[in-house]
Amino acid sequence: MRRKLAAGNWKMHGLTDSLSQIDSLAAAHPAPRVDILICPPAPLIERAFRRASGHAIAIGGQDCQTARSGAHTGDISAAMLKDAGASHVILGHSERRADHGETDEVVRAKARTALAEDLIVIICLGESRAQRESGTTLDIISQQMAGSIPDDITPDRVVIAYEPVWAIGTGLTPTPGQIEEVHGHIRAHLTERFGLQTAEAIRLLYGGSVKAANAAEIFAIANVDGALVGGASLTAEEFSPIITALEAS
Ligand code: PGA
Repeated sequence: MRRKLAAGNWKMHGLTDSLSQIDSLAAAHPAPRVDILICPPAPLIERAFRRASGHAIAIGGQDCQTARSGAHTGDISAAMLKDAGASHVILGHSERRADHGETDEVVRAKARTALAEDLIVIICLGESRAQRESGTTLDIISQQMAGSIPDDITPDRVVIAYEPVWAIGTGLTPTPGQIEEVHGHIRAHLTERFGLQTAEAIRLLYGGSVKAANAAEIFAIANVDGALVGGASLTAEEFSPIITALEAS
């Protein structure tokens, strides 16, 4: 059985005041039946980790450098994330692919570095609107998986997040059938590449406009093992019912 994961990606939102959301989440979910993860912006990671300590909330980063250390002004290494208390890192988010030109090759290199630091990596994939409309979604997903996922993986250290670019922050979501098709495709790709046992142990998250109102429907879809949530993870009030829906699924 794959343990489900509710992951919150705060993106470039959050100042000191936002840390109180972690207290509220912890109070609302003292003994969750799913994994809960918050990925705050880097300056909050260590404080978020301290606030979450003693509670069932893990803390993660939103990116790391390909290199383990060196002359890379402004960048953050996987070891630094780990040192600050992070246990996870999101890699290859479409906003990083768009804003920073991250290719599949870069994402794979980052994943290797993060895995070497013992972080759990959440590798993000997803098609653009034009790719969805031209019917190439599954090809794009295959290409991104082949390029972004390292060959030597341990299943419990890798999570895949399917996030259609056109669904992120837009209020639009694919139909349940579309999500099921892509998640089934991802599972099949993983099975072909890594074998059934490894593939069955890897958690697949859906991300893109997940809210309390649509969470239960999304979590009922085959091969959806949780969600990567942006906007609705910023407050405990909005994130908590999503966690509860995942526990009930
Ligand atoms: P959203 O973002 O929930 O705000 O659509 C999801 C994500 O980008 O991870």
